[in-house]
Amino acid sequence: MTEQIVKTILKQSDERVALSVDNLHHKYNKGKSNEVYVLKGIDFEISAGEMVAIMGPSGCGKTTLLNIIGGLDYATRGSITIDNHIIGEMDDSELTKFRRDNIGYIFQLFNLFVRGLWRFYPHLSDALV
Ligand SMILES: Nc1ncnc2c1ncn2[C@@H]1O[C@H](COP(=O)(O)OP(=O)(O)O)[C@@H](O)[C@H]1O
Ligand SMILES: [Mg+2]
Repeated sequence: MTEQIVKTILKQSDERVALSVDNLHHKYNKGKSNEVYVLKGIDFEISAGEMVAIMGPSGCGKTTLLNIIGGLDYATRGSITIDNHIIGEMDDSELTKFRRDNIGYIFQLFNLFVRGLWRFYPHLSDALV
């Protein structure tokens, strides 16, 4: 599944690495009968100033990846480094402060679209992460 995720570079940037994702794995319900192995060793870097789109079919793991990068969930294995801060090594309180100061996140669901609005914009449901 995750090999279907591709990174598209939309703009050239400077050389400084802003985000590094190293050997990232994630399983939901780890060890249980309903375990889902979503991310299977993701590696990439994004430089400062680079604009990147992560694309892939529904269910391939885009939201899972963004939730972990955004500090909303912890990976099963691997590491995320943002401007030399290792996300997985922070406790809840540190992560909360880090998110407050460094992360902007626009949610697909829960906040932006009121339930029922899809009726009027059905074409958007496939376009958003
Ligand atoms: N909280 C969860 N518990 C169990 N499985 C989940 C959970 N969230 C997502 N999944 C599963 O993980 C896979 C990837 O989901 P997701 O990251 O939402 O993909 P995408 O955003 O690319 O559509 C899917 O098979 C989905 O059903
Ligand atoms: Mg999604």
